[in-house]
Amino acid sequence: MTSPPPDQLQVFLDIATEAALSGGTVLQNYWGKLENVQEKGRPGDLVTEADKASEVAVLEVLRRHFPHHGILAEESGRSGEQTDAYLWAIDPLDGTTNYAHQYPCFAVSIGLLIEGIPQVGVVFDPFRQELFRAARGLGATRNRSAIRVSQAQTLSQSLLVTGFAYDRRETSDNNYAEFCHLTHRTQGVRRSGSASMDLAYVACGRLDGYWERGLSIWDIAAGVVLVEEAGGRVSAYDSSPVVLASGRVLATNGRIHTELSSELLQVRPL
Ligand code: IPD
Ligand code: CA
Ligand code: CA
Repeated sequence: MTSPPPDQLQVFLDIATEAALSGGTVLQNYWGKLENVQEKGRPGDLVTEADKASEVAVLEVLRRHFPHHGILAEESGRSGEQTDAYLWAIDPLDGTTNYAHQYPCFAVSIGLLIEGIPQVGVVFDPFRQELFRAARGLGATRNRSAIRVSQAQTLSQSLLVTGFAYDRRETSDNNYAEFCHLTHRTQGVRRSGSASMDLAYVACGRLDGYWERGLSIWDIAAGVVLVEEAGGRVSAYDSSPVVLASGRVLATNGRIHTELSSELLQVRPL
């Protein structure tokens, strides 16, 4: 397909921003006041009244402006049009475990996939009031200032980030070996607990690279646009084109991409 014209993408970006700010206000209001924290299925996979209320707020904005678009939201699933022409991928609270413990690292993440390709991404951190936005061809910003990925040239100069999915107790493919391996070859590997923030931080150069498995589309749809529009690279672990539905992503400043990919494949060949 041909990409929508820039002015159309700008409209999507602005409405996504309105939705993310609305969700973020809900998260600010519930901060420190949670009464209902439940496990969704797997141990440690939490949902709270803040996740649900943020999602209601985000969906209200998107449905009002785009009643014919499809929606894939973490807490309520698929709704709207059942075509893939326009699909909003929404995580109303990315970093629920952090949020439930009042550890201030969480965000609202909203991505728009047009015919399966992420074209617009907004990640909003209401605690720090940091708004990360990008649309294909329009660049990436943090609080309206342009952002770029870092300059690190090698893994030994890099600070990375990763995460461990909720199925980590049930699989040996739980990323522990990769974490140890890369910890020995870099300046450090962080584990923030918010995939969308990890991608936003790669986009703005605070981190040099990120990898993770076991993700959902709503965790990464927005962030991949941020990283690519900030000059970085996003792929599968083996550097082939990323498939969001695989739940695996490698995102870097571009300069360390081949090196990080080859270290990941050394630990666990595909
Ligand atoms: C989680 C976070 C975390 C990642 C998990 C995700 P949630 O999202 O993004 O960083 O390691 O795989 O599920 O559950 O807080 O929305
Ligand atoms: Ca998430
Ligand atoms: Ca979530």
